[in-house]
Amino acid sequence: MLKRLDQRVALVTGAGRGIGAAIARRLATEGAALVLVDRDADALAALAQAMRADGQQALPVVADVTDRAQVEALMAQVNDACGGLDILVNNAGIIRDGLLAKLSDADWDQVLAVNLKGPFLCCQAALPLLRQRERSRIVNIASRAWLGNIGQANYAASKGGVVSLTRTLALELARYRINVNAVAPGLIDTPMTRAMPAAARERLLRMQPTGEMGTAEDIAAAVAFLAGPDARFITGQVLHVDGGKSCGLLAL
Ligand SMILES: NC(=O)c1ccc[n+]([C@@H]2O[C@H](COP(=O)([O-])OP(=O)(O)OC[C@H]3O[C@@H](n4cnc5c(N)ncnc54)[C@H](O)[C@@H]3O)[C@@H](O)[C@H]2O)c1
Repeated sequence: MLKRLDQRVALVTGAGRGIGAAIARRLATEGAALVLVDRDADALAALAQAMRADGQQALPVVADVTDRAQVEALMAQVNDACGGLDILVNNAGIIRDGLLAKLSDADWDQVLAVNLKGPFLCCQAALPLLRQRERSRIVNIASRAWLGNIGQANYAASKGGVVSLTRTLALELARYRINVNAVAPGLIDTPMTRAMPAAARERLLRMQPTGEMGTAEDIAAAVAFLAGPDARFITGQVLHVDGGKSCGLLAL
């Protein structure tokens, strides 16, 4: 039976674990051939091996999305191996949390480099590949935090930048029939949030309308929708997948 993403080539950054790994798995289940990108070589190799064991196509490429030369080499490799790209998912991201007075230059620069410059570099280098295909897609992983989050001035600013990048590229790339959308996850159970201090996690959980964390698979499902044929006429949008948190604050 034909699957929704058969014949499509998809690249996911930060695919080594967490949300990125779940997105890669989901897109492969839908029939896409996957390019897995991360700076963690061991995690990538393990995921690629597991996917291949399940009969899925997975090409692991170690690259740091903040480095223009590495990103350009990555896209050249994808072009040689796959002859173009249908779906680019900019998922790699980091947190370096702290209140304003405590944030260092490094906290600011590293978060902006990975979360915002990374998607810029990947979109720019992937554009010639995306243009070789019909109706290709970019899905950027933002965060509900783009609306504001105490202790995350750097992270929220980076994700607000991702939303602006998404909306602008949706306009610029519409002429090529490239749809550009963002998914804004709320609190999701991944190694990133498991590394938070327990008190911070508890506080965030209390602010969840549903009282529960989301799963990486919840985000992967939204990405699969935006990458698939049903989202043909959707571009420049931010899909919040956050259990309702973006609707406002709960009375605590
Ligand atoms: N977990 C959440 O609650 C949550 C909420 C909102 C948004 N997000 C966003 O979802 C995305 C994935 O988050 P996660 O929770 O899975 O994180 P994670 O820390 O579990 O995984 C991130 C992956 O990105 C990779 N990575 C980091 N910097 C990189 C770089 N410079 N180049 C290449 N790879 C790099 C890491 O090696 C890791 O494999 C991020 O953009 C994050 O901001 C997460």
